[in-house]
Formats: sequence, structure tokens, C-alpha cells
Amino acid sequence: MSDTPEPASGVKADLETLVSLAKRRGFVFPSAEIYGGFAAAYDYGPLGTQMRRNIRDLWWRAMVQERDDIVGIEAAIITNPEVWVASGHVSNFTDPLVECRECQGRFRADHLEDDVCPNCGKRGTMGTPRQFNMMLSTIVGPVSDESGRAYMRPETAQGMFVNFDNVQTTTRKRLPFGIAQQGKSFRNEITVKQFIFRTREFEQMEMEYFCHPDESLALHTYWKKERLRWHMSLGIRREHLRLRDHDREELSHYSQATSDVEFHYPWGWGELEGIAHRGDFDLTSHSQHSGKKLTYLDPETNQHIVPHVVEPALGLDREMLTILFDAYDEDEIGGEKRVVLHLSPDVAPVTVAVLPLSKKDTLEPTAREVSSMLRKQFRVQYDDTQSIGRRYRRQDEIGTPLCVTVDFDSLEDHAVTIRERDTTEQIRVPIAGLVDAVTERLDALRPVVPSHDEIEV
Ligand code: GAP
Repeated sequence: MSDTPEPASGVKADLETLVSLAKRRGFVFPSAEIYGGFAAAYDYGPLGTQMRRNIRDLWWRAMVQERDDIVGIEAAIITNPEVWVASGHVSNFTDPLVECRECQGRFRADHLEDDVCPNCGKRGTMGTPRQFNMMLSTIVGPVSDESGRAYMRPETAQGMFVNFDNVQTTTRKRLPFGIAQQGKSFRNEITVKQFIFRTREFEQMEMEYFCHPDESLALHTYWKKERLRWHMSLGIRREHLRLRDHDREELSHYSQATSDVEFHYPWGWGELEGIAHRGDFDLTSHSQHSGKKLTYLDPETNQHIVPHVVEPALGLDREMLTILFDAYDEDEIGGEKRVVLHLSPDVAPVTVAVLPLSKKDTLEPTAREVSSMLRKQFRVQYDDTQSIGRRYRRQDEIGTPLCVTVDFDSLEDHAVTIRERDTTEQIRVPIAGLVDAVTERLDALRPVVPSHDEIEV
């Protein structure tokens, strides 16, 4: 741990500790570091990339694959700019910005604690707040003038609204049904100081659940519970999560009610995911702007209605940061301090490490054989460098749930040792039964999640 005070939240790492681990182990690097980096931009290393892929797949599995009522799409990032006029982003997607008259630094007015400039430290130099649109834009086409102005999407959600009719017609889904999407979004954020918590380029995982207006409030509650369960299924502890309803003044321009799933970060409670009741705002607005009818023919009443929408909206980068915070731990093994990430086997970038006890050539063929056998089902890392103790520590620090050690006895008894990350317990198993033994142990390490009805919101 660094010298900064213990975080108050029950999370064992402060931001500095996590940033350092992420870089040291290849989860997250400053973007284009050889050029001095780029503000609020990050590149994901081999472990971070795998971990993000795991989280993305787990979201898709829960939200699309395992459900009959939700389908997925992938819409364009740069699309017709009228979309952003209709969605309200051109006129309303703003933050209050203040500029320091002394150093010309710009800050979000609602993030300032007093009238002292966070950059130059001068008091009373901050100007009056003005609204600043957060959309990033570009020029599309061969002529570099305003006629080609287009926006990088600030949310994936609008792709679902503008495709509502296409999806409904092609899938013939009946209400309630959802459209899900994962992909990059872009915002010209003014305050970007908490690592990958808030960046200008980030990935979202959003789902628009279209429903009858009469069912929308009950479904809002339903999704609050489901989303809380999902975060717990990835290993985040219930006591580090809470739901918080937005005050009226806080609501986005499209929202009738929003609840955030919040996590207790070292700097306090903060938004992990937003679950909004968007009413009929988007479909009505797109219908008005495009002139196309965006309604649903209710087969019971034979009436056209504009469905209401409940939207769970999550950032992939923020989920990853949150899981790392929650999983970080420091303990003592045999009198020695160790850093360990208690990652769930589904999230961990490496599920099994294969470690030949010695670098001697005699062990390598068996260890390689074991490794390729396991690779068919698990994410395997083969490591034969340095002492076995150091290799265990390295795997603990990246959250690998199991290590399999091949030793000289393995050549005789055709068995290997499985060592568990959390307890450090070791058991000997025959190589022939290794896949089953690993599967069983990984199953036992998966978080136990309460049923939908057991969750209180
Ligand atoms: N479609 C609704 C929407 O975009 P939001 O609350 O602005 O709602 C949803 O964003 C989620 O996206 C947030 O809860 C957060 O997890 C993630 N997110 C938003 N802005 C982000 C940023 N600048 N960097 C990283 N993640 C961000």
C-alpha cells in the first residue's frame, strides 16, 4: 500500500495502489505512453483486454443469450446528426463549465468545492459558469466545412431507439422486449481524474427494455434487482453496493426516474450503473423529428401505443475498475505479505496457471502437455521463470484462482498439484482427472447470488 490514508470504504486499495498494480501487471497502460500519454486515455494490456472480454461476454450472456425477450444489435458510432438533435443531446447534453481567469484552466462548476482554482490555487479567480456541450464531433466527407459536421455517439442507447421499428418488424417481438448493445461511446468530459472511472472514450453496455406504460414502474424495480444481482454474480460484494434514486434536479433530460447502482469507492459512493425510466421520450421525439411512426400495435386492444422504456446502462471500463477495487486484498502467507485479487473465475484473466517446479528440460514436455490439455477449456498461463514461491505470488496478484504444479514425482505418478489462490491449500490429483478437478474447484469459487425475490431495493 502507498502512504495515503486507508480508504474509508472497506475497499483495501486506494487509487494509486490500483493504478500501479494495473500498469505493473499489464491490465491498463497510459495511452501512447512513449509520447507522454494523452489526458484521460488508456490502453488495455493483455490481462486487461482479457478481463474486459470476460465482463463483456458475461453481460451479453445474462442480457441476451439467456433471455428470450432481448435481442442484440450493433449500430454505427458516427451516424446521422439529426439523431442527436432528436435525442436532445445537441441542446441538453451539457455540463456547467467555469474558467480560471488567472491560468485559463477549465473545470466543472459542480465539481468545485470552493472558489479556489484546483490548478493554480488562486482564490476568487473563477469566472461565471457557462454550459458546455460534451459531445465530441468530427467532419465527415471530402469537404472540410460545417456541412460535414457529425458526432461521435455519446451513448449507445440511441442506436436502439432509431432501430426500434426495424428490430420489431424483423423479430416480431411482443412487449415487453429489449434491445441490447455494447460498444464505444465518447464524451468530452471536463473532469477526468479517477483513472478509468471517467474517460473521454469508453465502452458502454446498454439495454432498452420496451414495455407497456402500465408495466413500466414494476419493470423499473425488476431491473434494479436484476442488475444488482448481476454485479454480485461477478463477485462484487453486496455491502459495497447500494441503489440510490436521483433527485428531481439530478435527472437527465430524458428521464422520469433514475436509480444508480453505486459502489463504495475509496473516494466515496459513486455511480457504477444507471437504471433509468425513460418513459416515451425517445420514441416520441424520434418519431416527431423523422416523420416515421414509431409505435407498437397492441394485439389485445388493436391500438397503437408508444412503448415506455426502462434502461440499464453500464460502462465496461467502470465495471472493470470496480471489480478490481472490490477484489483487491493484502494478507500474510507464511509470515510474508502478499497482494491478492479475489477475482471470480469467470472474470479472472487467467483461470489456471501451469507451473513446472523446475526449469529443467525433464519437466517441460509433461508441463506443456498439461497446459495444452487445460487450454481447450480454460484461460491458461504457462510460467517457468523464477522460484515457485514468486510465481505463486505473481498469479495471486493477477487473481488467478488455481495454479497447477508439475514436479519430478509427476513423471512417476502421473499426478500434479492444484494450489488454490484464496486458501493456498494444495491437493494432488491424477493428470487424467485434472480437467474435472479444475472444473469442480472453479465451480466452488463462483459467488453465490441471492434469488431475485431475496434482493431488497
Ligand atoms: N444511455 C444512458 C447513459 O448513457 P449515463 O449514466 O450517462 O447514462 C451510463 O452512462 C454508464 O456509462 C454510467 O453509469 C457509467 O458506468 C458509464 N459512463 C458514463 N460516462 C462515462 C465516462 N466518461 N467514462 C467511463 N464510463 C462512463
